[in-house]
Amino acid sequence: MDGVGGLFEKEGIAFFGPAQAAARLEGSKIFAKQFMQRVGIPTARFTAADSFDEAWAALDEFTYPVVAKADGLAAGKGVVICQDRTEAERTLRAMFAGQLVGAAGSRVVLEEYLTGEEVSFIGVSDGERVVSLEPSQDHKRIFDNDEGANTGGMGAYSDTRILSAEERTLIERTIMQKTIDRMREEGTPFRGFLYAGLMMTERGPMVLEYNVRLGDPETQALLHRMDGDFGALLRSAAEGRVDASHLRFRPEPSVCVVLAAAGYPGQPRTGDEITGIEEAERRGAVVFHAGTKMQGGHLVTAGGRVLGVTSSGATLAEAIRRTYEACEAIRFEGMQYRRDIGRKGLRRWESGAGA
Ligand code: AMP
Ligand code: GLY
Repeated sequence: MDGVGGLFEKEGIAFFGPAQAAARLEGSKIFAKQFMQRVGIPTARFTAADSFDEAWAALDEFTYPVVAKADGLAAGKGVVICQDRTEAERTLRAMFAGQLVGAAGSRVVLEEYLTGEEVSFIGVSDGERVVSLEPSQDHKRIFDNDEGANTGGMGAYSDTRILSAEERTLIERTIMQKTIDRMREEGTPFRGFLYAGLMMTERGPMVLEYNVRLGDPETQALLHRMDGDFGALLRSAAEGRVDASHLRFRPEPSVCVVLAAAGYPGQPRTGDEITGIEEAERRGAVVFHAGTKMQGGHLVTAGGRVLGVTSSGATLAEAIRRTYEACEAIRFEGMQYRRDIGRKGLRRWESGAGA
């Protein structure tokens, strides 16, 4: 094992997390797409291009909208859905010129646009087996109703009803366990959190992306529902015998709303004092810090996504209400957040529950 994990293993310390070679599932979109194509994991049709000219020629194989993705890591901002040829040209030129996402854009994936409901499906793997966490849903766009630019994630909710038992079994078999099996067979066993960003299409669940970690902000929502001994779960996986009995979830749905700084997902405004966190916590929420720091004895903003306010309730409607009540206690200059986190679920299951 290379990378950080290798250092721990050399010292004889159990380590939970993928080796460098397996982490390419997230680190390189082209690697991930080629892997899925090779082993038959459902994903959007794609072409990889090393230059603007190559990408430009490949565009003819696609209809619009078409999705352009920078190959490397780009903090959730390397994906652009291009509505027409003019936007595709502008996006590809900017990606290859390094203006959009820097070096991450020196290779680009073009892919077919998929429609459906997005689901984040995360498993804990010891390299052979994989144990599923509950499903969750991220909200990637900056504005309500999924409008505006893609971000690293503006909020998430977790609710068992996001997937039926049949859908869950299908995902476990055709995506999660298959990924783990094939990675092992190819000599790059995957141990760690395997995150599949899925689109539930009419053709069945398809993988939009892999991450090799718990997703953000899904993690905040998921951990809020977790019972059992999380540390023991990870240790068992690190030792190659993942023990699902450590994993228990409370049935109550949970919601995490991200409070972002003005300007995000572009250059965020920083250095503004944050108040009201204690009041938010009195209202029952857990407030996770993302882009904050202490300055002269005050807590100030220090990044694009500043806080993740998380709560749960007996119903999704109640979880949403409690989370937003907590958000309203918090203030900083230019604070922006989505008002519709979880609303899609509410429409599906609890219509009339005050959406
Ligand atoms: P990714 O980082 O690959 O998950 O892409 C970020 C977001 O872009 C996803 O969560 C989707 O909302 C959207 N997206 C990515 N690929 C596609 C696709 N092939 N079709 C439709 N939307 C996509
Ligand atoms: N929520 C998606 C991510 O963490 O990349």
